[in-house]
Amino acid sequence: MGPECMGMAQSVRRRTAQAPLAGRRGFRYSDVSPMLHRSLRLLFLVPLLPFVATAATSEPAPRERTLFTADWRFQRGDAPDAAGSLAYEKIKPWVLATGADLLSAGVPAVARPARPTSGAEPGTGVSFVQPNFDDTAWQRLNLPHDWAISGPFDQNLPGETGKLPWSGVGWYRKHFQLAAADAGTRLAIEFDGAMAYASVWLNGRYVGGWPYGYSSFQLDLTPYANFGGDNVLAVRLDNPPESSRWYPGSGLYRNVWLVRTGEVRVRQWGVFVTTPRIAAEAALVNVDVYLENLGGTKATLAVTTRVFELDAAGRRAAQPIAVSEPMTLDIPAPKARQAMRSNLLTVPQPRLWSVETPNRYVAETTVERDGRVVDRVETAFGIRTAVLDADRGFLLNGQHVPIRGVCLHHDQGALGTAINVRALERQLEILRSMGCNAIRTSHNPPAPELLELCDRMGFLVFDESFDCWRRGKKWPADMKEDDPDVHYFDYATVFDDWHERDLRALVRRDRNHPSVVMWSIGNEVIEQWHADGWQLASRLAGIVREEDRTRPVAAGFNGKDSGYTGFQTAVDAVGFNYKFSEYERFHRRNPAIPVFGAETSSVLSTRGEYFFPVSDDPTQGYANFQVTSYDLAHPAWANTPDTEFKALDQAPYAAGEFVWTGFDYLGEPTPYNSDASNLLNFSDPAERARAEKQLAELGRLPVPSRSSYFGIVDLAGFPKDRFYLYQARWRPELPMAHILPHWNWPERVGQVTPVHVYTSGDEAELFLNGVSLGRKKRGAFEYRFRWDEVVYQPGELKVVTYKAGQPWATAVQRTTGPAAKLLLAPDRATLRADGSDLSFVTVTIADRDGQLVPRTHNLVKFAVDGPAEIAAVDSGNPISSEPFQASERKAFNGLALVILRTKPGQTGPITLRAVSDGLTAAEVKLEAK
Ligand code: GAL
Repeated sequence: MGPECMGMAQSVRRRTAQAPLAGRRGFRYSDVSPMLHRSLRLLFLVPLLPFVATAATSEPAPRERTLFTADWRFQRGDAPDAAGSLAYEKIKPWVLATGADLLSAGVPAVARPARPTSGAEPGTGVSFVQPNFDDTAWQRLNLPHDWAISGPFDQNLPGETGKLPWSGVGWYRKHFQLAAADAGTRLAIEFDGAMAYASVWLNGRYVGGWPYGYSSFQLDLTPYANFGGDNVLAVRLDNPPESSRWYPGSGLYRNVWLVRTGEVRVRQWGVFVTTPRIAAEAALVNVDVYLENLGGTKATLAVTTRVFELDAAGRRAAQPIAVSEPMTLDIPAPKARQAMRSNLLTVPQPRLWSVETPNRYVAETTVERDGRVVDRVETAFGIRTAVLDADRGFLLNGQHVPIRGVCLHHDQGALGTAINVRALERQLEILRSMGCNAIRTSHNPPAPELLELCDRMGFLVFDESFDCWRRGKKWPADMKEDDPDVHYFDYATVFDDWHERDLRALVRRDRNHPSVVMWSIGNEVIEQWHADGWQLASRLAGIVREEDRTRPVAAGFNGKDSGYTGFQTAVDAVGFNYKFSEYERFHRRNPAIPVFGAETSSVLSTRGEYFFPVSDDPTQGYANFQVTSYDLAHPAWANTPDTEFKALDQAPYAAGEFVWTGFDYLGEPTPYNSDASNLLNFSDPAERARAEKQLAELGRLPVPSRSSYFGIVDLAGFPKDRFYLYQARWRPELPMAHILPHWNWPERVGQVTPVHVYTSGDEAELFLNGVSLGRKKRGAFEYRFRWDEVVYQPGELKVVTYKAGQPWATAVQRTTGPAAKLLLAPDRATLRADGSDLSFVTVTIADRDGQLVPRTHNLVKFAVDGPAEIAAVDSGNPISSEPFQASERKAFNGLALVILRTKPGQTGPITLRAVSDGLTAAEVKLEAK
């Protein structure tokens, strides 16, 4: 480890001293730490029980954090009597009082406007806010909830955001009781994210709000709570149209928590664990604890931390492995309400966190007042060093680990954006099987559960804050970006007021996760093109460094000049988007700054679609609103995976890449997003004539595309061909081979039909019906084997591969018989009966021999018996406008997906049946336990 390593033993290694930090004011960690959401509890979505004491004293602490997701009521549309009065601009002074404690010392405190001088409190006279409003007719549901995913798809809505009705206003209400005995405690509500412009009322009183839909925030309910009686919470959300470049989802799409504490307590996100020194014999663990005294009398406190090992399932060991000395302090009241103390511990023979062995620990911090436990929080962490080195790339625990990452948007396909831990875990499992080891949370703060999973499963995370700063990316269609009075619809509208809060909230929330190895202050921000843009970059990087000095601050640059205009010195590491040709020059001119591919490739493809002739011209291969799967087609700014691989192989100092994207996502269906030139590409001349006529008559062509073509894996979670191109490179030790295309081309007999093979071997021989079409050796900077002159004959295509002269792996594509039957394959057959566990069941249209029949699109109908329901169906077809919430689905190129969800507390056998006209039906048995 270098001397610069500090904090979570992580740093940027640069040869020059770091630039002075903008606005540095020393540490003012006046906040926060999450209680450990133990993975199991999250998976089961069971309310957290009051903490069972095992600490310095065995007394239970008053802190309690419970899921607050059951039994909400929901209504689309605004209150009729609100008459625009609740628009953000109208109530802004009130909203700005939220999170004011996240602002730096220099920023004037934003106080809640006092009534009545600032006019009426928001919501005065609005029916939906009132405790006695009759909401019995509203929809009853449990959170998390994405109000738009059930559609319907609307052809008049923009494909860019998925053609789904996410924009507009929605209201949630929840009735609950509070015990009289709780009077005197502090009660807060925590939103892991609320999409968007949340405003919250309790018992008719305005509590606070938060515009950015991806940020986690806490509101103090204490002043408005009715202890010993009924309470009604009302939440208004407002998604401005045109405010996103992808499907953002809508509503209370992440978890909501109720937190009870005493008056003397650890603040929100108030524990920061770092590991300043790590050796084989021992690791130093430093635990900063930020405390506050909200009571009226001086508090004399003792703060003690114990460290326990966590097992793979997140269970902690019975005995602590290290116990700190108690640190004592006084917090006088009411003036000095906040204070910090650090506990220092030594963990013997630390089990390091790594991608292969994601070992974790938990710090249990206990606060005692006059010998009585007044608070206790748990903070999971890992012990590892993570260094971005300008010459050697990324080093984890001193070992070189190439970043084999993908960018991910936050939607879960057919499930929408409503967070589901199993759905996230499945995504990561699929990515892991490809050899992926890193995630970029493009382009916003992720759900906390994603980071828990990455900690547990051993993924590296590039944790991103913003897609834009002061200059937005969404403006009125009739304006130009450089119009002097251009205005924006996206985050730019609130950037000035909120960026500091959003950025500090992100870093404070996420800085204990061992998986998080880099922060991103922005993606392709417009300011990178402006001469003074680096100043804002410096300010944002400074905010991050004030909150966490242990990780590099980076950004995604799509302007290569940003590597030379000063922008590059504002950050600790430069991530280039699609600038593979720039690595060498950048490294030469900035030898001390680490570089990596923050966004790479952006190849387009549709699973199972192949168009001929095959061309290396990236503008070819588009038809029928689909894109060929030869993995050669891409937009002008992008490049093939092969090109990026070559660039990285020639730049060993570069830390690796984050491919755009791991999975297809809702929205941004480039090239059918806005590029009119592709719209008339139909393989069927009759279709083309029909479309031309329509275009002439209507002046526009309805474009069915509503989800992306960028994914390595399709929206349903089925790998595309490209999956195997990455697997071949990222898992070189895995014997594997993959052939494309499929071999069902009755109309191509006698025609040239190129064959590509992805393999981790270094030699390959292709056979068609037993006849060799040639044995090829991998050349320098070659990543796929190609037989471009194969003349199609039905039968068997087989590849035999070798590595270092030894047989390695084989693969086969056969011309199949006609579709004969359905096959059902659940990813998990035993489920937890918790109302959130899922089984993803793959439906295959197979021939008599059980082989997937390509190019089949049969409609399949499903029925479930037993304690489960269909959460969603999909097929991965980016132009389907069938609803995701349904009991039938047209297969797409031989496959469909059914997602089954258990029912809370209901156990027993589950049977899923699938039927389709002309095919033998299928049935599969599962069980909820
Ligand atoms: C990038 C952008 C991504 C996505 C991608 C598509 O420029 O950062 O959000 O739009 O292009 O290729």
